[in-house]
Amino acid sequence: GKYRVVSTKPMPGTRWINLLIEQDCRVEICTQKKTILSVEDIIALIGDKCDGVIGQLTEDWGETLFAALSRAGGKAFSNMAVGYNNVDVNAANKYGIAVGNTPGVLTETTAELAASLSLAAARRIVEADEFMRAGLYDGWLPNLFKSPILLFFPDRFVGNLLKGQTVGVIGAGRIGSAYARMMFLKANGEQPVTWKRASSMDEVLREADVISLHPVLDKTTYHLINKERLATMKKEAILVNCSRGPVIDEVALVEHLKQNPMFRVGLDVFEDEPYMKPGLSEMKNAIVVPHIASASKWTREGMATLAALNVLGKIKGYPIWGNPNQVEPFLNENAQPPA
Ligand code: GLV
Ligand code: GLV
Repeated sequence: GKYRVVSTKPMPGTRWINLLIEQDCRVEICTQKKTILSVEDIIALIGDKCDGVIGQLTEDWGETLFAALSRAGGKAFSNMAVGYNNVDVNAANKYGIAVGNTPGVLTETTAELAASLSLAAARRIVEADEFMRAGLYDGWLPNLFKSPILLFFPDRFVGNLLKGQTVGVIGAGRIGSAYARMMFLKANGEQPVTWKRASSMDEVLREADVISLHPVLDKTTYHLINKERLATMKKEAILVNCSRGPVIDEVALVEHLKQNPMFRVGLDVFEDEPYMKPGLSEMKNAIVVPHIASASKWTREGMATLAALNVLGKIKGYPIWGNPNQVEPFLNENAQPPA
């Protein structure tokens, strides 16, 4: 191949690799088994000649890396993610390096995880699963009394009924709107669910029973959910985060979970990913999953393909598909009510 393209992680499917190979690229995939590659690791990968890089949201793409990529003759970088808070787009521009992201293909998959976490938190599915696997459903009675009749307790794992409750979405962009649509699904013949644009975020926090966070992470959304705002939420509310960890002050959240046992959260992202703040993993009222919101086969392969097309586009002079300079702002004034 005439061009050298590096991927900092193995990515699913073969379509993205084939696309690059067909277009005269040699593809190199880093196979280090590290969750987070350091800046030095990536500089070594870039080497002396590199036309483009496909990177991950766990990497810090700032001045140092774009300078290194530029020295190696690089023209393109694509995050394999829709979010690009890990990328200093200005630094990339300074070195003439185009930046891509992967919007669109992960919208529904991410919204489905947020909906899953909402329902799982409401019905305490993970706690119940742990209880079952621990053998506690029949385990605590001596075996001679083993009888399922005695062991169904009506007060066990009682959760929230979501029907008729208020769902709040903070960050009504592509993913937030798709989440709202899913949560508003109704059976034929029922009254339509009402929808309104809240006058403020604080109104959403105060009034909603289930709240899902979908803003981009930037200076204005860092610790958007803090101690004070948690205190305004309903005591039995459910909070879901499939956006970025630092949108929540996680230390304050752990304290809030301790003080309010009926408050439940479903978290896909963490402030110091891949770590959790102390105490979070012990909280029964928290469901935690390792950044899997976009993890459906179709979506992850789509993201890899889009990232490859972004890099290829710049190298070959095609338009870049996912262009962070055109990403929708945090509060999308044009967001439409779910049909
Ligand atoms: C995942 O978190 C993404 O931004 O695509
Ligand atoms: C519960 O299983 C019921 O039958 O009500």
